[in-house]
Amino acid sequence: MNAPDIAVERLGADYFQDPYSVHARLRAQRPVTPVIMPGGATVWLVTGYAEARAALADPRLSKRMPGWHPEPDSIIATMDLHMLNTDPPDHGRLRRLVNKAFTARQVERLRPRITAITARLLDDMADQGVQSEVDLLASFAFPLPITVICELLGVPPADRDDFRVWSATIVSDIPAPEVFQAHATAMARYFMALLAAKRQQPGDDLLSALLAARDDEDRLSENELVSMAFLLLVAGHETTVNLIASGMLALLLNPAELARLRADPSLTSSAVEELLRYVNPVSNATFRCAAEPLELGGVRIGRGDPVLVSLSVSPMALPSPSSFKAMCPRYEGKPTSSSSAPRSRSP
Ligand code: HEM
Repeated sequence: MNAPDIAVERLGADYFQDPYSVHARLRAQRPVTPVIMPGGATVWLVTGYAEARAALADPRLSKRMPGWHPEPDSIIATMDLHMLNTDPPDHGRLRRLVNKAFTARQVERLRPRITAITARLLDDMADQGVQSEVDLLASFAFPLPITVICELLGVPPADRDDFRVWSATIVSDIPAPEVFQAHATAMARYFMALLAAKRQQPGDDLLSALLAARDDEDRLSENELVSMAFLLLVAGHETTVNLIASGMLALLLNPAELARLRADPSLTSSAVEELLRYVNPVSNATFRCAAEPLELGGVRIGRGDPVLVSLSVSPMALPSPSSFKAMCPRYEGKPTSSSSAPRSRSP
């Protein structure tokens, strides 16, 4: 990556503790700027609202590094073929196939189970006693989504603790390479074995539905199935952990809004939408890469340069972006789709 006239800022490990203040500062200085990430990668970090929208819609910013292919038979090759790593038309093909299996009706069918799991976790927290402290992450924010996504996929309960460990390593900010390799390998092997078992004996679960999914003559290959399972597990789990934990913190720090919500539960949908915006459970989109040279926010991005788009809200986008309002008129009380709409979600 070559940015001869621009100072490259090195971001420390503390960036992950509070990316938002770094994004706000950079946005004011230079909305598209080169940085060295805590892990050592040099990237263009896009923090301006207009620039972020432009970047997310620009087909020249590819999900794949030009000319890069994983080693065939490597663990990366097994888990790499998912929607977050593909561009059109491959992306549309995968999306059509997953849409055959992962339908709104199937998600709706989960509602009673999710309600029951939530009630049990809340009861368990209450049983710990009103006087004692409860760790929200360990008691609720973590177990709820992992239990739901494992049930959805058809991962047996006994195996779920392994998934927590593998998933935490894979999404951690700077994992040790050997631990990453070991846990990614374990997860891929596990999915391969589970898929083989479901091929023999299909269940009423998403993995079995993905095995059966057809779009005319088309179907998912073995690596695409493992990759899809991996994506759904990780994307559908860590994001929600962050939303619950950071959302609860936001409510506690805004007691007047918390009181309004308690007094009027019909505000819940609007509050969830507002929390998604306000706490930003995902601070950056996944990496993009310039498939050809382009200009963004007045800077020239070279072919092959990696680009990271901040999903933090911009001061330009909203009347009072840094305040949290449980009932925000722009949502009109209506939730947006949450399963996989974020590709079109505004940054
Ligand atoms: C608070 C909850 C969630 C948040 C904040 C969130 C956020 C995001 C974001 C920002 C992206 C786009 C990333 C990019 O293009 O770089 C994305 C994509 C995706 N998410 Fe989520 N997500 C959430 C929940 C879920 C759940 C529950 C699932 C599945 C069970 C899921 C599955 C996916 C999938 C499959 C994609 C890729 C979609 C595509 O490329 O077409 N997400 N999510």
